[in-house]
Amino acid sequence: MSSSNLHNSISTIIENIAQQGYSVIERFISSEEIEAMAKQAKSLQSAGEMLQATTGVAKLENSTLRGDFIHWMEASNANAAEMVYLNAMTALQQAINQAFFLGLFELESHFAIYPPGAGYQKHLDQFIGKSERKISSILYLNDDWKAEDGGQLRMYLDKNDTTRFIDITPQAGKMVVFLSSDFLHEVLPANRERMSITGWFKVRSLNS
Ligand code: OGA
Ligand code: MN
Repeated sequence: MSSSNLHNSISTIIENIAQQGYSVIERFISSEEIEAMAKQAKSLQSAGEMLQATTGVAKLENSTLRGDFIHWMEASNANAAEMVYLNAMTALQQAINQAFFLGLFELESHFAIYPPGAGYQKHLDQFIGKSERKISSILYLNDDWKAEDGGQLRMYLDKNDTTRFIDITPQAGKMVVFLSSDFLHEVLPANRERMSITGWFKVRSLNS
């Protein structure tokens, strides 16, 4: 991927967040690099390193709330594909900090695989009483996704009006970024496996 593409995408993300609090960008990462990330997700899955996700502070395993399997990424042993992701996210973090003075301090990110039929019910990415997560992002890894495959990310544009939402197809290379505190969202069930990398930019917590 050329760095000017990344630079342009990041500028658009900053503008969109300033105007509406969220951004949806096609081809944030080139298709060859997305393919390498998808391959990594599949090999983690084969190795048994994708684990049933938990929810909330109590770490309850609750597959009715969310049915995905996840693997937390570690910068210290990232492969080449993961490094491409982490480098792009570092550039985004710096741009967001410069534009909004958010003082974003660290990124936590995981691969996610939703088996067919799995979803994630409507939620906010900030747990009750914890607000370190400031910015949420999702990068999709699914080649040739069709509308009829389902699996849309449903983003509610108004916390108090559930009739106002947009549905985003999880097409490979697409990046969604939003203010974690402001947008309820859910993952609709898909009829094929659905892969992504979710990342949260956090501020430093006083009690951790
Ligand atoms: C999450 C989430 C949305 C998506 O992991 O918290 O809401 O589209 N993911 O994968
Ligand atoms: Mn979420």
